[in-house]
Amino acid sequence: RRWQSSLPQLDHVDRSDVESGGEIDWDNLGFGLTPTDYMYVMRSSPEDLGAFPRGELCRYGNIELSPSSGVLNYAQGLFEGMKAYRRPGRAGYTLFRPEENARRMQFGAERMCMPAPSVDQFVNAVKETVLANRRWVPPQGKGALYLRPLLMGSGPILGLAPAPEYTFLIYAAPVGNYFKEGLAPINLVVDDEFHRAMPGGTGGVKTIANYAPVLKAQMDAKSKGFTDVLYLDSVHKRYLEEVSSCNVFVVKGGVVATPATKGTILPGITRKSVIELARDRGYKVEERLISIDDLIDADEVFCTGTAVVVAPVSAVTYQGRRHEFRTGPDTVSQELYTTLTSIQMGLAEDNKGWTVAV
Ligand code: COI
Repeated sequence: RRWQSSLPQLDHVDRSDVESGGEIDWDNLGFGLTPTDYMYVMRSSPEDLGAFPRGELCRYGNIELSPSSGVLNYAQGLFEGMKAYRRPGRAGYTLFRPEENARRMQFGAERMCMPAPSVDQFVNAVKETVLANRRWVPPQGKGALYLRPLLMGSGPILGLAPAPEYTFLIYAAPVGNYFKEGLAPINLVVDDEFHRAMPGGTGGVKTIANYAPVLKAQMDAKSKGFTDVLYLDSVHKRYLEEVSSCNVFVVKGGVVATPATKGTILPGITRKSVIELARDRGYKVEERLISIDDLIDADEVFCTGTAVVVAPVSAVTYQGRRHEFRTGPDTVSQELYTTLTSIQMGLAEDNKGWTVAV
């Protein structure tokens, strides 16, 4: 019997929705979940031979999953994170390098033995989700509509094996700053007990299975007043990997460095963009092993990610000692934040072809 989940279906999407989101307090968005109107859903069954034949917009709501679905039992799942900004002075919205998210999902799907949507299917689905939820895109300067594409083994399976059916889904939520500090610098702690990833594991793909394991370290850190955790490599316990939800960079004497992505580190799209922008602006950028001693010796430390954007780090505590770093207006991180966000928000000319209009 073919497994089928039930979803709230739509006859059509009313594209004449009002342009602004109801009761929302745009000045205090943060990164909480505000449910929006529609989500995009597409399925791949065994007879589809690894393709996703057709997707559609549905009312945002709960989905039904078999208790024995691959994602619930064996964490066969991936997610992505993307943002749509309202374009200044013009109608429409801007996405940032959405085809990179599509390709990263394809790469992760190969590792997790799942079929993935084509790049065109992925990008079109994102555009449809933005348009259907356009009243939830925050006003210019107040935040973005965060898109969360998911790919999961939704079909039932009991023995450990790939699921027989897959679901691709995108939902959206308006967001502001990720950290409670807002745009102010964050304060990290290095955890040398817990690790995020291991060589040969899945640290380099955006599987859902990489995220729940950091919750314990993150909760402990927050209870002690830290913003988040910086993880070290699991073999030598000496080299920087990443922070729970973002990549990390150090700056020393005008040289910008970030851990090389060799399988344990997520290849962030913001990371990749910041590397290119820093090189354009004349900085030497190194992707290499960065030891904890290099970090302690750095002038500046900052994090990058879709949700966090570019977040300056004011202090890192390692083995009980607090190390402080430069933050503020004349820093490399501030320069890169402004350069990146100006492109993302449509305030500066995009001569790289990174933005996609919706
Ligand atoms: C993102 O930055 O979009 C992510 O996917 C990280 C997530 C933990 C918020």
